[in-house]
Amino acid sequence: MIVLGIETSCDETAAAVVDSDRHVLGEALLSQAEEHRPYGGVVPEIAARSHLDHIDRLVATAMDQAGIGYDDLDGVAVTAGPGLIGGLIVGVMCAKAIALAAGKPFLAVNHLEGHALSVRLVEDVEFPYLLLLISGGHCQLVIVEEVGRYHRLGTTLDDAAGEAFDKTAKVLGLGYPGGPAVEAKAHKGDAGRFDLPRPLAGREGCDFSFSGLKTAVRRIADGFPPDETRPQDVADLCAGFQAAVGDVLVDRCRHAIKPFRLCSEGGKSLVFAGGVAANEYLCGRLEMLAGEEGLLLFYPPPQLCTDNAAMIAWAGMERLQRDMTDGLDFAPRPRWPLG
Ligand code: KG4
Ligand code: ZN
Repeated sequence: MIVLGIETSCDETAAAVVDSDRHVLGEALLSQAEEHRPYGGVVPEIAARSHLDHIDRLVATAMDQAGIGYDDLDGVAVTAGPGLIGGLIVGVMCAKAIALAAGKPFLAVNHLEGHALSVRLVEDVEFPYLLLLISGGHCQLVIVEEVGRYHRLGTTLDDAAGEAFDKTAKVLGLGYPGGPAVEAKAHKGDAGRFDLPRPLAGREGCDFSFSGLKTAVRRIADGFPPDETRPQDVADLCAGFQAAVGDVLVDRCRHAIKPFRLCSEGGKSLVFAGGVAANEYLCGRLEMLAGEEGLLLFYPPPQLCTDNAAMIAWAGMERLQRDMTDGLDFAPRPRWPLG
């Protein structure tokens, strides 16, 4: 089977074609990062207009690369939420038009489900698994029981970890998106130099909080001199921040493993997904945790961690294989919790 997937929920316009043997047959992605960079974050109106300008061409490119026509598709999948409503409408209308014109099933995919299942496009990970899903807008621990069956153990009480990376980068003048920039600086930094909080670490439950860490970073950065000692200060603060995030993620996952084992007999995998899972240091920390806890850690390659259409096409494929198709009256949802 072959599915076309479309992603327009935030600041990436993307289209991809995947088959049921897990091949990505065609893929086209346009990041709007440059358009949003002057504002230090995503501007919804700019995002929606840019999706509209580029989606048709990107779909055509992905289809050409795959060497197929619309008649060859078995389904059309699209991110129908959660996300910025203007962008969601662009993607959903495009996907519905193709599905209607070609007479193919329409699949409304939850963006978080796209991240949650992305690893299965590249690895043989069996259900159930424990998922740590961390991106710019989301930060959750979820038991993935089956396609469409998700049990959330915890979420963030304030900011998502990706947002904390982006804000750290912003106060240090490292640009947007912040994650990759902070990770690069952290390589040359001393993680032990600054004393930073580990919010909620050691507490009961599986929730997250990053606003205290963000504030602590800002307070320290405000004291930096604007001279030649600054590059080392920046590197040390990035390393300290990243280590604090690592400690928090490890602690929260440790708390989630007990309920995971109770609810999911036979579950033996920990999956790290979402944009922040592109961070090598954090993957290393979770690898150690998984080893200690007798679990196997899986995470997708970086290009499948950050927003992309292959994961949406793949989630659509998993739904199509289970006859979980949607009607063309499905309305995009700016808010849509997993499960
Ligand atoms: O999944 P994603 O592309 O978009 C959302 O659904 O939010 O995640 C984007 C987030 C941004 O906050 C970005 O800074 C973060 O993922 N990110 C990283 C890295 N690469 C991307 N965070 C830490 N380290 C990275 N290498
Ligand atoms: Zn995402």
